[in-house]
Amino acid sequence: MPAVVIVGAQWGDEGKGKVVDLYTERADVVVRFAGGPNAGHTLVVGDEKIIVRLIPSGILRPRARCVMAQGMVVDPAVLLGEIDALAARGTNTSGRLFVSDRAHLILPYHVLVDGLRESAAAESRKIGTTKRGIGPCYEDKAARRGVRAADLRDMGRMLGLVERATAAWAPTIQALGGEVPSPRAIVEALAPLAARIIPIVTDTSVLLEDAVRKGQAILLEGAQGTLLDLDHGTYPFVTSSSAVAGGACVGAGIGPTRIQRVIGITKGYTTRVGAGPFPTELHDEVGERLRTAGGEFGSVTGRPRRTGWLDLPALRYAARVNGLDGLAVTKLDVLTGLSKIGVCVAYDTPNGRTGEFPIDGLEDAKPVYESLPGWAEKLPAVRALSDLPGAAREYLRFVADAVGVPIDIVSVGPRRDETIVLRDAFAS
Ligand code: IMP
Repeated sequence: MPAVVIVGAQWGDEGKGKVVDLYTERADVVVRFAGGPNAGHTLVVGDEKIIVRLIPSGILRPRARCVMAQGMVVDPAVLLGEIDALAARGTNTSGRLFVSDRAHLILPYHVLVDGLRESAAAESRKIGTTKRGIGPCYEDKAARRGVRAADLRDMGRMLGLVERATAAWAPTIQALGGEVPSPRAIVEALAPLAARIIPIVTDTSVLLEDAVRKGQAILLEGAQGTLLDLDHGTYPFVTSSSAVAGGACVGAGIGPTRIQRVIGITKGYTTRVGAGPFPTELHDEVGERLRTAGGEFGSVTGRPRRTGWLDLPALRYAARVNGLDGLAVTKLDVLTGLSKIGVCVAYDTPNGRTGEFPIDGLEDAKPVYESLPGWAEKLPAVRALSDLPGAAREYLRFVADAVGVPIDIVSVGPRRDETIVLRDAFAS
């Protein structure tokens, strides 16, 4: 059975939760390999809507084992909150939820610094982070003073690590007008959480290799999106981790030879939360309409998302840096009712016209649009490509041809069953 990687092909919020949840019907193991509680994956089952931020979207499938791998940053309090919320709706995570012993922990000083920095930054320098401590936690990891899940097993060692980290952050916290938290208070508050988390702390690379050997189906679930990736995104307006397919190997401790398929998720249009360039952003009533019809408000922060037309140079870029084999196009239903649909096919830049996604000048790039006919029919009941309105089929064909990647899935509504499946990700 193959290992399949699913990544966001835009700026996050592409509908990964739903697509991963669908694929996990077949998966034995579902792995999150990057990011932390900055992600918010929305799952809709029947009339119920559940948002998971840390726990892999596969958790609602009773047979799937779920792994939070070492590329993630895990906030212990958020994790336990999610476990409790799932238990309250009757989803038992015990025995099938694991956190890597090498995953770094988000501690209160990370959240404090993230918030202080965002409040203090001049408007032009704000990244618009989720203020969940993601960046400072990854900074500690790179500075080699991070605290890992395995450290929960030894509170004496934990105190030493927290003292070292808080001392390192103290000048920053003080300069930003904050109060340096007491390491002892942090560790005391952590102790009862540690007792609950230690049983699920595991060498998850061993777990995954064992699953590979047994021929089990493994789904590696990315967070955020390609254009928010630390290396490949619109730096510096990016997150602090690896959101691309290559990050699945690093972040999950699984070798590249194990990966058999990479699927990229894109909406039928584009959204972005937070600051940074967004060439196809719409500031008009169409943008507003996409936001309202698409429910485009952050699932973690509640912030209104910026909205715009589909950007093919960006999508081609995502196809390249991820090596996409298939596309999942989500929220096609949101486009219903528009008489014309714009698609950006190139940019006009001071250096001329380009179909590439440039490192510089994206702020000033003028999108070159093609206008495709829209459709009026509502889509959620459609289950076969042939039942889609002709204009919707044409739109999909146009996108697949322009990106050079076939479409595996089309999502026509938020519910699990409101989906057209064209290709099985796990088929060999
Ligand atoms: P951070 O990940 O909280 O540090 O935020 C860095 C940037 O990534 C900000 O622009 C956030 O809005 C964006 N971001 C982080 N996580 C997500 C996500 O799950 N969806 C969309 N945007 C995100």
